[in-house]
Amino acid sequence: MIKKYIAVLACVLSLPIGHAVADEAPITLRFSHVVADDTPKGQGALMFQKLVQERLGGQVKVEVYPNSTLFGDADELQALQDGKVDLLAPSLAKFDQYTKQLQIFDLPFLFDDLEAVNRFQKRAKGRQLLRSMEDKGIVGLAYWHNGMKQMSANRALHAPADARGLSFRIQASGVLEAQFAQLGAKAVPMPFAEAFAALQSGKVQGTENTWSNLYSQKLNTVQPFITETNHGVLDYMLVTNSRTWYAIPHKTRTELEAIIDEVTFAVNHAAEQQNQADRQRIQSSGKTQLVPLSPEERQAWRTAMQPVWEQFTPEIGADIVKAAQIVNRKQSQ
Ligand code: LMR
Repeated sequence: MIKKYIAVLACVLSLPIGHAVADEAPITLRFSHVVADDTPKGQGALMFQKLVQERLGGQVKVEVYPNSTLFGDADELQALQDGKVDLLAPSLAKFDQYTKQLQIFDLPFLFDDLEAVNRFQKRAKGRQLLRSMEDKGIVGLAYWHNGMKQMSANRALHAPADARGLSFRIQASGVLEAQFAQLGAKAVPMPFAEAFAALQSGKVQGTENTWSNLYSQKLNTVQPFITETNHGVLDYMLVTNSRTWYAIPHKTRTELEAIIDEVTFAVNHAAEQQNQADRQRIQSSGKTQLVPLSPEERQAWRTAMQPVWEQFTPEIGADIVKAAQIVNRKQSQ
């Protein structure tokens, strides 16, 4: 009897247990986000899932939960830290509890266009910000574009004073709150998933978002006017939890990073196109009037929001603000 136990034990001990488990059980990465599948981020998540399945099938499995079905804005970052989800791509506005530096992306009228944002993200200062939350266990893997934000309301906003007295749904961000305060408007932070109902019920009368987010959440159907302000950027940081990430075997992690680079390239090239297509769809619906701004009108908005820069530059860091301003000058490339 004892001999039999010893034989079984010897057999068990000689098995490369770690390997057997690692080989057999795929690593599951749960990717949760708050937007629809047919948006730049939604498409990026699905492409990541597909490429991982093709190249690392059997080793890594990606589960995608769109539209706040697993976690929403209010709890997704906590869930990431608690290891309840492995990948998120929150808008850069949503990290201000974790680092003040990323508020750079919310400063109104800082970046001329998405090209300028792209240049900033690729340069040293921009890349450095991917590591700005490592002390909180959050690792930035890539920047993904959505696009430039437009301002919508139940009345046409031509001049900054037109926003006075209205309530706007915003992403929870100190800079965005200050931006609307500067216009004499009220900012109401709320999760993305609640924006449609709040606009429909009249709890808020306006909002700001990209064409693809406005269209995919049908926000345009409850907003009679959208002013083409292009006043700020709504981009994402693909993030993971450092414990989860560094527990993945090095070789697999390197392959995942290569896939992420490929997906990032695709998302960042397709985002602007998607936004322009959705702008066109909103316009063609005939239900929402698009309000263009002349260069002089746009300058008036820009000037009205300058105090927000002064308020937030000290906490963001003057060096970061300067590095971002430089990218607008195309000739400096
Ligand atoms: C929003 O809350 O408006 C956006 O951040 C949603 C998103 O993830 O694009």
